[in-house]
Amino acid sequence: MDSLSSGPVAEVLKRLHREAEAADAPLTQTYASEMTNAEQAISQIIEAETEDLAGLYHGFAGNFLSVSPEFGRFLYMCARSCKAKRIVEFGSSMGVSAIYMAAALRDMGGGRLIGTDLEPGKAERAWANLAAAGLDDLVEFRVGDARETLKSGVGGGIDMLMLDGAFILYLPILKLLEPHLKPGAIIIGENAFSEASGYIDYVRDPQNGYLSLPLPVDPGRGNEFTVKTK
Ligand SMILES: C[S@@+](CC[C@H](N)C(=O)[O-])C[C@H]1O[C@@H](n2cnc3c(N)ncnc32)[C@H](O)[C@@H]1O
Repeated sequence: MDSLSSGPVAEVLKRLHREAEAADAPLTQTYASEMTNAEQAISQIIEAETEDLAGLYHGFAGNFLSVSPEFGRFLYMCARSCKAKRIVEFGSSMGVSAIYMAAALRDMGGGRLIGTDLEPGKAERAWANLAAAGLDDLVEFRVGDARETLKSGVGGGIDMLMLDGAFILYLPILKLLEPHLKPGAIIIGENAFSEASGYIDYVRDPQNGYLSLPLPVDPGRGNEFTVKTK
């Protein structure tokens, strides 16, 4: 049995997805009513991110912005299939995606998840959520800008990297962690829109040591699946 299907992890995730839906509903409605199409939404986000990244995300301090249950299950399955021992997450928010990945570590006998977020209040809540799921012993949250918090390394080779922070930083964060990525490592880019930062061009160029494809999980959301080939 896997810990997503029953027990404390399943219970906590059910509660958090419910809380996320309630907390993020006004935001979803604002975007839906203000934007005429996805392209316009993306370019506005990119503009805002470029101008004032910390300010933009501070405005979302009370929002989960978390992965869907389907995407969470996909993360769990990725971690299981690459037998991950060390996972890094850029953008942990309230810890929903971290719970899926840490649950996979637990079900394989242990490991380490290093998460990071700009917002101290979110990291606190993520910590409490991981504890409620009984997974906090597997997780370390670093508070601050990931360009700084991940600079000192992550204690060893990385089996799986989840990119889910400001998407204009996906390429710089990937390059920062590249020396630590194991051959065969899985990299998930959530909302890795091709308009942002050259990330997609980089991971889709085999000369850079990756193979990469758009993901059909949560279609239309710019999700990218990448494998380190060397
Ligand atoms: C989409 S949410 C992450 C959701 C989370 N992965 C989940 O599924 O539960 C993005 C998060 O990235 C964080 N973030 C944005 N830019 C960051 C940066 N430069 N360093 C660290 N965290 C950042 C934001 O504070 C926000 O909580």
